[in-house]
Amino acid sequence: MCGIVGYIGEKPASPFLIEGLTKLEYRGYDSAGIAVYNDGNIRIEKSVGRLSSLVEKIDGEPLKGCLGIGHTRWATHGRPSDLNAHPHTDCSGDFVVVHNGIIENYLSLKEELIEKGHQFHSETDTEVVAHLLEDVYDGDFEEAVYSVLSRIEGSYSLVFMSKKHPDVLICAKKENPLVVGLGDGENFIASDIPAIINKTRRTFILGDGEIAIVKRDSVAIKNRRGVPIEKKVFTVNWNAEAAEKGGYEHFMLKEIHEQPKAVKDTMRERIKKDGSGVLLGELGWTSKFLGSFNKVYIVACGTAYHAGLVGKFYIEKLARILVEVDVASEFRYRNPIVDKNTLVIVVSQSGETSDTLAALKESKRLGAKTLALTNVVGSSIAREADQVLYTWAGPEIAVASTKAYTTQLILFFMLALYMAEIKNTLQPARVKELISLLKKVPAQISETLTDVEPIKTFAKRYGFNEDVFYIGRSLDYDVALEGSLKLKEVSYIHAEAYASGELKHGTLALIVEGVPVIALATQKSVYEKTLSNIKEVKARDAVVIGIAAEGDEELSKYADHVIHVPETDELLIPLLTVVPLQLLAYYAAITRGCDVDKPRNLAKSVTVE
Ligand code: M6R
Repeated sequence: MCGIVGYIGEKPASPFLIEGLTKLEYRGYDSAGIAVYNDGNIRIEKSVGRLSSLVEKIDGEPLKGCLGIGHTRWATHGRPSDLNAHPHTDCSGDFVVVHNGIIENYLSLKEELIEKGHQFHSETDTEVVAHLLEDVYDGDFEEAVYSVLSRIEGSYSLVFMSKKHPDVLICAKKENPLVVGLGDGENFIASDIPAIINKTRRTFILGDGEIAIVKRDSVAIKNRRGVPIEKKVFTVNWNAEAAEKGGYEHFMLKEIHEQPKAVKDTMRERIKKDGSGVLLGELGWTSKFLGSFNKVYIVACGTAYHAGLVGKFYIEKLARILVEVDVASEFRYRNPIVDKNTLVIVVSQSGETSDTLAALKESKRLGAKTLALTNVVGSSIAREADQVLYTWAGPEIAVASTKAYTTQLILFFMLALYMAEIKNTLQPARVKELISLLKKVPAQISETLTDVEPIKTFAKRYGFNEDVFYIGRSLDYDVALEGSLKLKEVSYIHAEAYASGELKHGTLALIVEGVPVIALATQKSVYEKTLSNIKEVKARDAVVIGIAAEGDEELSKYADHVIHVPETDELLIPLLTVVPLQLLAYYAAITRGCDVDKPRNLAKSVTVE
């Protein structure tokens, strides 16, 4: 999830490129770079770290020229470094490219190009695009771009620039945002509107498969075969702040809505083409080694800890390996029983949480092998762990974690399937079935996000209650924990989650008339028992909001309201049931006038003990 800018016009390009990147820094901030054409040459400057390092670097000697592109990076392939920062070039330096997304087949293309004599300088997937362009170029820049696009697989927004064609920038979009801003004698390109909003409000928002040929005085939109497309100008009426949030009122809501893409990106390249298994080649351990652990420890904090609870369920159920889960701040002082036969998995969106990092170091000291699940390439936890699996959620800005949780669940599910294959604990047909259901999850999350009106209504109706309870059994209980944390942290309502079977051991005393109880009832093996617990709270006149799978008619007989999510395997349903709970927390916070993105007393990344 990187930020992209481009400029063509009569004015110096670099002030706009830097200003635009500043507006996009929330999309990625591990490195940045710009390329500007002047007098037959393209000068490129890049720098690892925040954009300010790049600005410092070029301050003394600004780049001259009226044609340029820029990029702020959120690393995927290749750690944050000057070399891996964009823009990237071909061997001759004639072609320059910036990219947001993932080129899935870059390894095979890279091999092919190396065989032809191309020399690569970075570890990125993007560089392959520049070399491919050089390889197919035959005097016609536009044709060469079509040819490149026909060879690459994956997701992208790309901007191409060539010193042989200094009158044009070409950009292309697939699954990642790209917008062209229309100026007077100048035009702009950006991955997101905030970068251009100070320059123009007249835009073309590119659709998937669309290409823009951007010149100083004209913009032509075409499809991937070069056929012109009639496109309406979209006039942006957001203010700068709303633009940064993609038109959503808050980052939390934006990130909730980004989940289908985040989840899809996290699965990308990790499923065998025939759907028969999971590919985790990025793990530098042999199957034999991964299969040799007799115990797994999952250690994390907050939402990541809740994801770990689901992870335990997946690994135990699918791969039949014993898993313990612990909060990092407890684990490190527990004198934990881990040794060289233990795999310790640490989970952290930021990769910087101090307790999790300390638990990781302690595990290594005790001789355990460590695996990090994190969202930030090059973070402290990613660097410290023996092995890393990344969630590809893109930067999470809101303090309340949402897309990090769902992408962590995806990784745990895939890891459990991977371990199950090694341990031979699942029938191939069951693996295929689960993978085909897994692939449907992004679309099912989108479906869950389509009708938020009932959730808004509940939030308005119950948003002023003092206490809310969440109940569920099995995986539903794990999701209940996450739902209650979300509500507490953004709306300040006292919310508690209980394993439904535990109610009668104390908590039932708190259930009185009108208390809202969110009851998750999706796990078939404990469904009847869950219904009994719901009847228990109903008998004390609680207001029950049930969460069930589509097709469940039974729950509405006992609950006051039911929210349905699409049907899937009960192992995957946490990815869907958590979504209405996130939305409920969000809208309850709005009802109560809370500062959703910056809840009181909380920080996004807890780097102190
Ligand atoms: O960056 P991490 O995943 O390590 O952060 C862990 C917790 O601080 C985090 O999940 C926190 O609980 C969230 N604010 C919850 O929404």
